[in-house]
Amino acid sequence: MTRPVRITAGGAPLAGTVTVPGDKSLAHRALLLGALARGTSIVRGFPGGADVRATLGAIRALGVAATWEGDLVRIEGHDLALGEGIDAAIDCANSGTTMRLASGLVAAIAGQRTLDGDESLRRRPMERVAAPLRRLGARITTTGGHAPVAIEGTRLHGADCVLAVASAQVKSAVLLAGLRAHGSTTVTEPLATRDHTERMLRHMGIPITTTGRSVSIVGGRSLDPLVLTLPGDPSSAAFLVVAALLVADSRVRITGVGTNPLRTGALEILRRMGAHITIEAAPQEAGEPCGTIHVEHGPLRGTTIDPAEVPAAIDELPILAVAASFAEGETRLSGAEELRLKESDRIEALAQLRHLGVDFEPTPDGFVVRGRPDSRLDTGTISTHGDHRIAMAFAVAGLRSPGGITIDDPACADVSFPGFFERLRTLGAAVDSPSEP
Ligand code: S3P
Repeated sequence: MTRPVRITAGGAPLAGTVTVPGDKSLAHRALLLGALARGTSIVRGFPGGADVRATLGAIRALGVAATWEGDLVRIEGHDLALGEGIDAAIDCANSGTTMRLASGLVAAIAGQRTLDGDESLRRRPMERVAAPLRRLGARITTTGGHAPVAIEGTRLHGADCVLAVASAQVKSAVLLAGLRAHGSTTVTEPLATRDHTERMLRHMGIPITTTGRSVSIVGGRSLDPLVLTLPGDPSSAAFLVVAALLVADSRVRITGVGTNPLRTGALEILRRMGAHITIEAAPQEAGEPCGTIHVEHGPLRGTTIDPAEVPAAIDELPILAVAASFAEGETRLSGAEELRLKESDRIEALAQLRHLGVDFEPTPDGFVVRGRPDSRLDTGTISTHGDHRIAMAFAVAGLRSPGGITIDDPACADVSFPGFFERLRTLGAAVDSPSEP
């Protein structure tokens, strides 16, 4: 455990132009699909956080030569024979995306693999990915529905999978398995989730058909290698956006951010809350929309977040709860029971807002926050539960606490946003290490 960090109100207004690390969701996919491609892929803007390092380890465990220097990763793809005959123990660390996508990746190729992770990952549901993969003929066993997950690679056949949960990870796992299955595979999701896998596969020359909520792929085709620069992660940008909204006189620009509409739900919700946010479009990168986010401090009002809005804002719901704490009136979220199944039970972790004086009511599938625009948060120490997004959400809350909010385990932010606290400090926030008691 590293030293705690304290964030206190009273720093300068946040000002300046910054970037955020490359998109984590895209980085996982670039590594896995690069490993499956015919030739060498070059990925720039690699974020280097713990989650994507786990995926880098996964492709190396399958025999792929991949080098990482600065923000550039070079992957020597093995084409569709990736992993053939290689037995591997894959350590997915804290990363649900690594475990679920890698399960789909290895299911079709001969070899015994075990996928495992840390305590948090071992608590997360894995039957949601195992069950649809079994429909394609995969031999996959979970441990009581959880990791470790054992997969014996075998020949797969195409199938129709109707998913019970809206999960881009599960959809992507099925598509990755479908790439090496015999025949056509269709996956249907209950609500639209991020479509990065579909876009990247198209960019690599694979025809993907989308009809309503169904995506189809035909197995057996080779992928062209990738050459791309990952746009900045909109989920990381969201913490800086809310930071600027909460500190008087702030004005921040975040350049080179991914603006895929299935990822920018939180920006739409914040706009509805009255936030001054604009997106200036930039050229697309590998089929993904990009842009510069401009944000200015200003008053917020409460809103109702509909269940249908949840997938496009799923990772930003913790920071939206912090924004709602300073909005006029009530903010209600429902249909977000998935929050209880993330790196921590995020609804319970967010309930720590109550210790800071916020009127926050957890519900089984969301929360109700009665905000107070002029409130100052009490001082307190927050347990991150080892969850990067909880650490960063409460750090931003500290910008409205005159006595400061201490984050017990700031290092966990490295999972998705290496350099987060430095970035906040650069923008003008008061971030320091409290002296030992
Ligand atoms: C992700 C999908 C989402 C998201 C996660 C990354 C992805 O998870 O919460 O941080 O890269 O596909 P689910 O698919 O489980 O909703």
